[in-house]
Amino acid sequence: MKILFVCLGNICRSPLAEGIMKDKIYRFGLDAEIDSAGFESFHVGDGADPRSSETARRHGISLDSHVARKFTTKDFDTYDRILVMDRYNHQDVMRLARNENDRIKVDYILNLTYPGENREVPDPYYGGRDGFERTFGMLDSVCDILLEEIKKDQKNAYK
Ligand code: 4NP
Repeated sequence: MKILFVCLGNICRSPLAEGIMKDKIYRFGLDAEIDSAGFESFHVGDGADPRSSETARRHGISLDSHVARKFTTKDFDTYDRILVMDRYNHQDVMRLARNENDRIKVDYILNLTYPGENREVPDPYYGGRDGFERTFGMLDSVCDILLEEIKKDQKNAYK
């Protein structure tokens, strides 16, 4: 299973999701490839936002190796699932989709928790520090659901 998390800047929300998910995958000894990307050129090459890094660190997760990058059409070929944070990321990714095969990979990450509701992970960038903790909690819960799906998927693969 290869999963790509997408937000706008690839410095706040999607690096957190990436770090949280990689940590769970590692702790459960599962096999999955996890990455994140964004659509905003301004932060390409930057590390994670210090507020995301601090929040992750408080939960025992390091985002130190993160380097922001932009989403590319090639990501549709590499990843099985492309999970976006909000409607703008959804529009951005869908605009680059070449066919139905690309489109079916894309979903709002919170649809794992609230199927079909297209709920959004709010952007904490312009808010205070507590926004990052809330974002972490939201992403941690949804990543638990994703983890269960990966476990099921891998059990089926070995049947
Ligand atoms: P993210 O947050 O999409 O969660 O990484 C943002 C970071 C930077 C900007 C926007 C959103 N920005 O416009 O610079």
